[in-house]
Amino acid sequence: MRIDILTLFPEMFTSPFSSAIFKRAADRGLLEIGLHNIRDCSHDKHHTVDDYPYGGGAGMVLKPEPIFEAVEAVMSESGAEGDGSTTPVILLTPQGRLFSQRIANELAGHDRLIFICGHYEGVDERVRERLVTDEISIGDYVLSGGELAAMVVADAVVRLVPGVLGSAESAGDESHSAGLLEYPQYTRPPVYRDWPVPEVLLSGNHAEIAKWRRKQAIIRTALRRPDLLDKANLTPAERRLAEEAQKL
Ligand code: ADE
Repeated sequence: MRIDILTLFPEMFTSPFSSAIFKRAADRGLLEIGLHNIRDCSHDKHHTVDDYPYGGGAGMVLKPEPIFEAVEAVMSESGAEGDGSTTPVILLTPQGRLFSQRIANELAGHDRLIFICGHYEGVDERVRERLVTDEISIGDYVLSGGELAAMVVADAVVRLVPGVLGSAESAGDESHSAGLLEYPQYTRPPVYRDWPVPEVLLSGNHAEIAKWRRKQAIIRTALRRPDLLDKANLTPAERRLAEEAQKL
């Protein structure tokens, strides 16, 4: 996968992208990241990237020319997506669709992604209308720019690229992948400060362990994120379990 990021602050990405999942993916040849400073595509004397909003109002707006030029340069530099589908050009903005595991899965199906990190009061509307194919928000709060949001989205996507996670860390069994929160996890020691690990996990009985985990995942989801239950795939008995848990 190749991810190109257009930003006014490329240096914000250097440390996160040189460790953990991103480093591992790059070292394995599964990920290429391109960081591009939008300012490099502004050609006036002061490399201006923003201007006052037409009609007045507070704050500044990112100008269209440097962003169009940067996206077009990146597109021509490394060619179109191999499978012929269009490369998503994603603007990170609090006005976008709310990011989720489902959207991470969807984006992981592409060979290439382009992220545009907004700043200031926003970007010229023509960027949204004519350049961007998708707008993503990582939550109902306002960040000072799209950079941290781009990192969040990139992390969630990159770990889904086949081969990035080791076989022991499959992405299939964890929180949100089945529409439920993950069951509680324990490791050694079996008793820590008088607090034992649930007996069943030490039993070696894999069927019982799977049953216990499923039940815990349902109870946990009912208590913490009941909104997820509507879309979860539950049997009638599991629905009753969830309803009981919510009464606790
Ligand atoms: N830029 C500013 N706030 C944001 C958010 N919540 N999600 C994505 N991009 C943003």
